[in-house]
Parts: sequence; C-alpha cells; structure tokens
Amino acid sequence: MDLSIIILAAGKGKRMRSTLPKVLHRLAGLTLLERVVNTAKQINENIYVIYGYGGEAVKTESSHLSVTWVEQRELLGTGHAVLQALPLIPDHHQVLILVGDSPLVSAATIKRLIETTTTHTHSDSIGLVTTEVDDPAGFGRILHDQTGKVLGIVEERDATTKQKKIKEINSGIITAPAKKLKEWLPALKSSNAQGEFYLTDIIEMANREDLHVQSVLVDSSSEVLGINDRIQLAKCERSFQNRQAEKVMLTGVTLLDPERFDLRGTLRAEQDVIIDINVILEGEVIIGSRSTIGPNCVLKNVHIGKDVEIKPNSVIEDAVIEDHCVIGPFARIRPQTHIQQRAKIGNFVELKKTTVGKDSKVSHLSYIGDATIGKSVNIGAGTITCNYDGINKHQTIIEDDVFIGSDSQFVAPVTVGKGAYIGSGSTITKDVPAHELTLARARQVTVKGWKKPEKKG
Ligand code: UD1
Ligand code: CA
Repeated sequence: MDLSIIILAAGKGKRMRSTLPKVLHRLAGLTLLERVVNTAKQINENIYVIYGYGGEAVKTESSHLSVTWVEQRELLGTGHAVLQALPLIPDHHQVLILVGDSPLVSAATIKRLIETTTTHTHSDSIGLVTTEVDDPAGFGRILHDQTGKVLGIVEERDATTKQKKIKEINSGIITAPAKKLKEWLPALKSSNAQGEFYLTDIIEMANREDLHVQSVLVDSSSEVLGINDRIQLAKCERSFQNRQAEKVMLTGVTLLDPERFDLRGTLRAEQDVIIDINVILEGEVIIGSRSTIGPNCVLKNVHIGKDVEIKPNSVIEDAVIEDHCVIGPFARIRPQTHIQQRAKIGNFVELKKTTVGKDSKVSHLSYIGDATIGKSVNIGAGTITCNYDGINKHQTIIEDDVFIGSDSQFVAPVTVGKGAYIGSGSTITKDVPAHELTLARARQVTVKGWKKPEKKG
C-alpha cells in the first residue's frame, strides 16, 4: 500500500498566548513538530507538512527535517488544510493525517490504525484514533449508534449539552484514501460555530456513501491528547518524562526521584548508575557503570566513564570524562574538554577546550581554557590561563608532574616544562624550564624603622 502522511501545523495556537507558533514550542527539548515528524518517519518518508501561521519561523526552525512544505495561506480549518496537499498526492495513495500539536502519539498506534483500516475487507475504508477521557472539554466528541458504529464527530462548540457529556474524543489522527479526500474536501461546508472547514465532517460523508469507518480506541489517553494551552504542554512534558524515567530505571539506573528527572535527549547508562534529583540531561549522554550524578547537575552531550562522581550543581557540556574522576561541586566544564582517568576538578573551576591528564587536580577557583595539562599535575587555587589577548585565543601547555602554586596566571601562549614548580602568585609570561622552581612576582620587602604618618596641624 502506498502511503502519504500529512501533518497539520498551520494553526496559530491562540490558546498558547504566544508569539511563537504552537508547533515550535518544545517538549523534552524538541519542537512539537519535530516530535511528530520523527514519529511519522518511522512509518513512511512521504511527509507533507501544512504550514501557515509564523510560516518562515516554522520552516527555519525545522529546516533539518526532510519533509515537503505546503503552505496554507488562509487558516480556514483542518479540512481546508488537508486539501492544500492533495494535488501533490497520487489518487491511489492512502493518506494518514497527523496533528502537529499531538506530539506523543506512538508509531505503534499509527500502525495499528493503518493496518486495521486498510486490511479491512471493505474497500475505501476510513479510520480514526479515539480515546476516552474524564474531561473531554475542547475536543471533538465521537457519535455512535446503538451498534457502536461511528456516525460522526461533533466539535465542542457545535455540540449539544447531551453530546458534550460524551467522553470518547477524536485524537485528530485520521486515515482515508486520497481519491475519496479529493471528492469530499472540496465539498465541505463551513456552516458551523467556528465558520471553518472541518476535516472531521468526512466521517459523516463516508457514512452517507456507506463506507466502512474504523475507529481505534487507545487506552492511554495521554498518548494522543493534543496540546492547546501551556497547562496541557506541561502535562504532556511530565507524562513523557515519567515514561522515560521508567524506561531508564528498568535498565538498572537509580533515580532518586523520577518526578524530578528530565531527559531532553538520549541517555545510555550502564548498570548501577545513580542520578540524584533535578538533573537535566540534554543531547546525547552516556554514563558508565556505578557513576553517580549529584543533585542539580546539567549534562549536555557528555560521555562519562565508570565510577565517576559528579558532585552537586555541576554544569557539563560537550565533554569526555574518563573513569574514576571526581567533578564538582559547582564545576563548569565547557565544550571540547577531556578529563582523563582519576583526575579531580573541584569547586568553582571552569574548564574550556582543555585536556586534563590522568591523576591531575584542579581543585579550587580556577579558569583553565585552551590548555593541555599533563599527568599528575597539581594546579593551585585561583590559577588562571590568560588565553585571550582581546583578538585571538592562545594555548597553555603544562607538562607532566608540574606543581603550580596558588593564584598564578599564565599569559598564553606559554609552556611549562615537565616537573616544574611555580611559586604562588606568579604571572608567567615566558616558557618555564623543566624541573626548576620559577617565580614571577615582586619580592617581599620590609622597610625597617618605618613610621606611621602623623596627623598634621
Ligand atoms: C481538532 C479536531 C478535534 C480533535 C482535536 C484533537 C477538527 C475540526 N477538530 O480540534 O475533533 O478532538 O483536534 O486534538 O479537526 N490546523 C491547520 N490549519 C487550520 C486549522 C488547524 O493546519 O486551518 C492545524 C493546527 O495547527 C493543529 C491541528 O490542525 O495542529 C488541529 O487544529 P486545532 O485548531 O488545534 O483543532 P482542535 O480545536 O484542537
Ligand atoms: Ca488541537
């Protein structure tokens, strides 16, 4: 069966009260549209996205998604939106319609819909996904006859008091043959409370032609509930995070509070990793066995080895941290940093584009940027690499076994030879020889017989 997928994303999302088009709001780090497109890709690559409100912003933000963009110039309703893509779709295709504001729908549910609809012995069946909710406000209600047959969908604003009590709602996910949509959609009427061309009216049209209407009821309503306002956005985010947290725990990771765990990307964690509360993981995060992540850490695109301890309030991005390291509390590890085995990075230390060798320590209050630090180096408190001359960045190289006294500065480019000692408070501007003590600070003097000034007059 040939399938084309249409994703509706042209609406403004009035109820979001936002200058951003609704589909550009984010759920667990990805835009709502990106999530729906990613799910659609698991079904088929023929994807048409209907855009309209904030069109340029939607296209720019989503330029990495390979989809066909179809503009809906006037927002005249969901039926009118689907109509815009039909000229591009061959008559023999089955069309699957997804809504850009329902980001949690699973590929499994969509497959179930397509299979049950298209393998049906009737030709030209149409199918829809429904669910039952306690509070159906705002959704289209499913109308059945006594035999359970779906008669139609009535929108909230057009529903009678009795119809409003129906708890089975339309998820917005519908499938129908392209050739039927091409007949029905141009014939839609906008004589309803919103003056719009409703896609949902095709159910009645199919019934009039005595075609089979297949409904697929999903048990977990949170999967298909749309996002119309920021309360629903927050609820969707939590329900998505809860599901992710459960998956993570089942792989052998302890989450001290799954309600306070946020994965906005992917996590690959080995066994017995422990993650404390309020940790945010973004991008691609890998954590080796027995490593622990303290509370309030933010990790983005980080590869952490085994038996690593990340202490509270550390922020780490685009970095590799090898086995047995101890990081933080309050460490800031910036991109392109590589911390090798057993190294220790302490509080209020910022590292950027730096390699820290095995067994080295940067324990307190330092800025080390554009640097290569060898093995077993000890960097004293308050050490700073002066890597920037106002125009260019320069390298600092500190070889193995160096000891750097507290409060030293390295005016890069500069190299400190193996085993060198640097006295505290030095401002190093020239290369330092190996195995010697180098001091670069004013000598301490005491003025003998000095007298405190006296008050004149
Ligand atoms: C729609 C359904 C409703 C269902 C609900 C599920 C209709 C008439 N109603 O209502 O039965 O319960 O979704 O979430 O279909 N859009 C366009 N162009 C338009 C109008 C809308 O692209 O002219 C897009 C929106 O961006 C959105 C989707 O279609 O992604 C649904 O539109 P929305 O206005 O949110 O419809 P609902 O009132 O939620
Ligand atoms: Ca909606």
